Amino acid sequence: MRVMLAPMEGVIDHTMRELLTSLGGVDRCVTEFVRVTERLLPPRVFYRLCPELGTGGTTASGVPVFVQLLGGQPAVMAENAARAAELGAPGIDLNFGCPAKTVNRSDGGAIILREPQRVHDITAAVRAAVPAHVPVTVKTRLGFEDQALFMDIATGIEAAGASELTVHARTRRDGYRPPAYWESIAEARSRVSLPVIANGEIWSVDDALRCRAVSGCDDLMLGRGAICRPDLPRLIAAANTRGETLEPLNWNGITPLLLQFFETTLLHYDAYCAGNPLKQWLVYMRGYFPQAGQLFEQVKRLRDPDAIRLLLQRSQPGCGRDRYAA
Ligand SMILES: Cc1cc2nc3c(=O)[nH]c(=O)nc-3n(C[C@H](O)[C@H](O)[C@H](O)COP(=O)(O)O)c2cc1C
Repeated sequence: MRVMLAPMEGVIDHTMRELLTSLGGVDRCVTEFVRVTERLLPPRVFYRLCPELGTGGTTASGVPVFVQLLGGQPAVMAENAARAAELGAPGIDLNFGCPAKTVNRSDGGAIILREPQRVHDITAAVRAAVPAHVPVTVKTRLGFEDQALFMDIATGIEAAGASELTVHARTRRDGYRPPAYWESIAEARSRVSLPVIANGEIWSVDDALRCRAVSGCDDLMLGRGAICRPDLPRLIAAANTRGETLEPLNWNGITPLLLQFFETTLLHYDAYCAGNPLKQWLVYMRGYFPQAGQLFEQVKRLRDPDAIRLLLQRSQPGCGRDRYAA
């Protein structure tokens, strides 16, 4: 089985990919989306969203990073996919799942699911434009309003020559509301022969086991679950491939990662904003680690990098209040 890290716009950038893949268990990542409208984009756009293009298309841990394209026109999507491949992308991922109104209004993301033929045409054009050794993967939801067209969408994607299909098991209308309909993935799997990757609402090793059983998929993609629990891919991979139950990271294992993440973001962001990705991460994590909520309350108004660093240093294991009092 493989575990993929989901694309998450504004959350999983190269610094987060670097950190999460360093913990193990992740077989593949996807960039944030390259928005394709009407022209061939300059190389700098691809390098900005995928700095890994400069290091063989992989993170420092050797995990491949596919370049994600989002757009509605086959010809220009194909041109941009060819450019990404020329620049060294190890794979191209097409986004037909984005529910954002602004994106949908300008002919991108989930809105295209209303037209299975166009999903097919975009996929086929990209497949034809990219060298055969570069995989073209597609990520979709179950539909726009409802699931009525889902089988047409899935069979069309296969007919277009996609290498793999990832299904976020909800319609656009469902947004991010639980549940995820893993059983609908199973139905599509029985109709296509390309590898299908199941995605949606996997927050624990148990969820992963259930999702694999219900969807029939070997491979899984994790989004928010991996942000809340950075070692979840590793725990899932160990449980599913070797039947091993590993000890999950506790808060003492998380705080060094927070400090490391902050120091890395400082290298790439304006100092005044460098705390923002950390704050966002703490908000995701507080659903699982209550300590993340407490730390967020302390950090949320801080802007000065030195003040943020000091707070993070004081939250490291062995630096508790009792230590200071001693
Ligand atoms: C903040 C955020 C940004 C996302 N950005 C993308 C994206 O750029 N492309 C995409 O295909 N899906 C995107 N998604 C959807 C996720 O990849 C994934 O399908 C969804 O979160 C369900 O998986 P999960 O329950 O494991 O989080 C995004 C989701 C979130 C919450």
